[in-house]
Amino acid sequence: MSMTDDIPVHLRGNGAPVTEERTITDLKVTGAIPPELDGRYVRNGANPVTGMSDHPFFGDGMVHGVRLRGGKAEWYRNRYVKTPFYADPNKSILDLENLGDMRCSKANTHVVGHAGKILALEEGHFPYVLDGNLETVGATNYGGMLKGSFTAHPKICPVTGELLAFGYSYAEPYLTYLRVSAGGELVQVEPITVGGPTMMHDFNVTQNKIVFMDLPAVFSMEAALRGEMPIKWDAEYPARLGVMPRTGTDADVTWYDIDPCYVFHPMNSYEDGDKIILDVARFEYIWRDNGMDFPNPYLWRWTIDTVTGKVKEEQIDDRSAEFPRVADAHVAQPHRYGYMMGFSAGLTDDPAEAEGSILKYDRVAGTRTSIEFGKGRVGGEPVFAAAAGATSEDDGYLMTYVYDASNDASELVVFDAGTMSSTPVASVQLPRVPSGFHGSWIPATVAD
Ligand SMILES: [Fe+2]
Repeated sequence: MSMTDDIPVHLRGNGAPVTEERTITDLKVTGAIPPELDGRYVRNGANPVTGMSDHPFFGDGMVHGVRLRGGKAEWYRNRYVKTPFYADPNKSILDLENLGDMRCSKANTHVVGHAGKILALEEGHFPYVLDGNLETVGATNYGGMLKGSFTAHPKICPVTGELLAFGYSYAEPYLTYLRVSAGGELVQVEPITVGGPTMMHDFNVTQNKIVFMDLPAVFSMEAALRGEMPIKWDAEYPARLGVMPRTGTDADVTWYDIDPCYVFHPMNSYEDGDKIILDVARFEYIWRDNGMDFPNPYLWRWTIDTVTGKVKEEQIDDRSAEFPRVADAHVAQPHRYGYMMGFSAGLTDDPAEAEGSILKYDRVAGTRTSIEFGKGRVGGEPVFAAAAGATSEDDGYLMTYVYDASNDASELVVFDAGTMSSTPVASVQLPRVPSGFHGSWIPATVAD
């Protein structure tokens, strides 16, 4: 028996947390950082203060950011989000008292820029506002308008500037739709009737509509009281998609049956006449038994026919992938290109054997290309940033942190999304950045 047998799989290799908050300004850069990139690439992740967490989703939020400006990488900063769990690492997120306190967020899942603010998000609680140096300002409840949880996956409409969101809860109302104006005011709070307390990790937005995913991952109070992951697969629970106008109410939702499955992350959705197209990373099931009982996810397309009431479900690729994204300018609009994080063989115990990649899907040509990082090199969610004066949807850059097991260090890589050349346009050398969840390119014009 080795020492590592005591360490949970999610905290081994590059899952191991870093404890020191660092600011580094003399960063070594290979290649040339595109001078039009003026902003911050920021990514969130679970990084337990105590060094230990029972579950990959329960670690304390730590953001890692790189400030790019004028062709230079000005700084790298990693900062804990200063939540009540940071202040008191012995607090448990599963205590019912903390489950109901909306400031008691791990703030570890995503980070977005909207209406001049940088928001660190986790789906069970209030957002946390960060300043331009990634220091925590504090939790926000939108001036008292927000009473419950706020998703980690809001959608920012590139046409109206609105931020569309929702909150889900183990207590009624199980689902609440939230609409934030371009100026950052929460202007609509709408309870929505669903079949039960399901875990709704993400949702879909089109130019005029919302599509909720009411899927068979259901909150279990019994499991919560036992201190286990409180979400269980329920084979009896009907899987449905709920379509509602963006300014609609509960009475306006139309529900469409689909085959049982789970989707953490859609790539994007859009309207096409009477149809709604949704590209999603689909699992056959999750948490069917105890533990991380996940099959491989794949890209699927759902086509909702609002005239016949039927949903066509098609698997697009047999290469496993997750963390799908499109260009921010195409969110809720038709997309041709989507980008995903490729897996080598799921979670591997040996970082030297893992091989990461970025996949690019051309949904018009029906093709997939990739950038392969090579043995011992693993990346994360690919984030797209448009080039100056972009002339096509894929005219821009893909960013992610890549961890290299051979030197136990990371880099911010910037690839050309158009050519998908495996040689980065630029690479910023960094200390080890532990594997994490979601991030954003936040232009200085959005939040600074
Ligand atoms: Fe997510």
